[in-house]
Amino acid sequence: MEERRYVAVIDFGSQYTQLIVRRVRELGFLAKLHALEDFDSLEEPGAIILSGGPRSTSEEGAPDIDFRRLQEYGVPVLGICYGMQLLNIKFGGTVEASDRREYGPATLNPECREGLFEGVSKDSQVWMSHSDTVNELADGCRVIARNQDGTPVSLQWGDSFFGIQFHPEVTHSHEGLQVLRNFLDQAKGLQQFRIEDFKQELLAQIRERVGEKQVVCGVSGGVDSTVLAVLLKESGIRMRAIFVDHGLLRKAEGDEVRENFRRMGVDIETVEASERFLGELAGVTDPERKREIIGNLFIEVFWDSVGDADMLAQGTLYPDVIESASNDKTKASKIKTHHNRVDRILELQAEGKVLEPLAELFKDEVRELGLSLGIEHDIVHRHPFPGPGLAVRCPGEVTVDRLRIIQECDAIFIGCLRSYGWYDRVWQAYAALVPVRTVGVKGDERSYEFAVSLRAVVSEDAMTADWAELPCEILRDSSNRILNEVPGVNRVLYDVSTKPPASIEWE
Ligand code: XMP
Repeated sequence: MEERRYVAVIDFGSQYTQLIVRRVRELGFLAKLHALEDFDSLEEPGAIILSGGPRSTSEEGAPDIDFRRLQEYGVPVLGICYGMQLLNIKFGGTVEASDRREYGPATLNPECREGLFEGVSKDSQVWMSHSDTVNELADGCRVIARNQDGTPVSLQWGDSFFGIQFHPEVTHSHEGLQVLRNFLDQAKGLQQFRIEDFKQELLAQIRERVGEKQVVCGVSGGVDSTVLAVLLKESGIRMRAIFVDHGLLRKAEGDEVRENFRRMGVDIETVEASERFLGELAGVTDPERKREIIGNLFIEVFWDSVGDADMLAQGTLYPDVIESASNDKTKASKIKTHHNRVDRILELQAEGKVLEPLAELFKDEVRELGLSLGIEHDIVHRHPFPGPGLAVRCPGEVTVDRLRIIQECDAIFIGCLRSYGWYDRVWQAYAALVPVRTVGVKGDERSYEFAVSLRAVVSEDAMTADWAELPCEILRDSSNRILNEVPGVNRVLYDVSTKPPASIEWE
């Protein structure tokens, strides 16, 4: 039989639903997220996963499914959290409502090490996030795992209906991926997920939605907007890519971005606005005010050059999507504030003129897509760079002289990281200006110059971060070169602050 069945994930509103889809893809199978309304008309699912959700099954109007239809699909079903409670009710058991939430780690003890728990260790950590619990079990229901207190946390009905109270999709469930893999092993004829096929699907969707219209997108040189622009170009639609140079970029970054796009065959229009930005920032020292000025001006400059766009494309990723996972991306999308004028965007969104082809993807999947579009490794693995640029690394006033110091120090530090093979091992690294002059000795003279702080962090997602334990030689080489080559600096510091309580950027 041709393998073309996919894994249907039914959204009951959990904040983790999209993560389930992503994990299934990680395991190599095609998965699609469905809103509850689509449940009755799924096309050839090979397995069904009912997600968790914030509601209580006992609430009036709680999300529900047609059980007969579920059985008719005739495929393995996994209920997670709310999904498990719902299955238990459908099979004739009961669920006890509770106001008390169990949130955090628990221990998983499988009753036997086969089926759903094949290869899963005893006492494996799993992550809980629920209030209600199953109470009476339906006839014929088997408890297949318990927690540390002996409470059932996984149930099985017949051969192909499974329930788990914990969230296998989050990394805090240490062997969650194995549980999902075991579940998918029960299914037959599942289609493989290949980024190449996914790319072709995205290209077809873009062509269909755009037709003859012209699409405008903003590019910054960052990974998301670069992948977006190359994807649009690959689709063959009519497009314009706009690059606003606000003068707060890294050393020679504007030229580098232009050169990269030239090599990739994407025409970009540069809007040179450095003077305007630096003019408006003159004398401003409050960090929030600086961000506000840059954000507003960016929007103005960008939209002035957009003119009357038919459609706008944005590199929104799934983590930017604020509401719980849903097929309705117009409802769910957060607006990336640097690139948009909020009212204009909302208007375009309401008219269906905002294209967000990357909205189902996580960062590492965007990188993979980028590689499959032929984008070079170094571009795809570039460190994140904040929208307001070097201004957030320059406490106090932003001036041309201060920017030059940051740019030079940053270029030296990043160069050292690259030459020691550490660039790809850290999430982000940069130099910030410490706007304090201290005394030093240069030659026979006393100097009175600024300090710079080098920062390199490791992180999974920028929500938390730790300082990178760089080899001393990198710090020594960077410091020596900075002190010798960058006028205006006589002291180099290394930032050993974790986030929290510090943030990654200085402002
Ligand atoms: P913080 O400093 O909040 O940074 O720990 C977390 C991550 O976000 C980036 N960052 C920004 N990115 N616009 C952006 O596009 C911003 O205003 C902004 N501020 C911080 C930062 O570089 C880090 O990766």
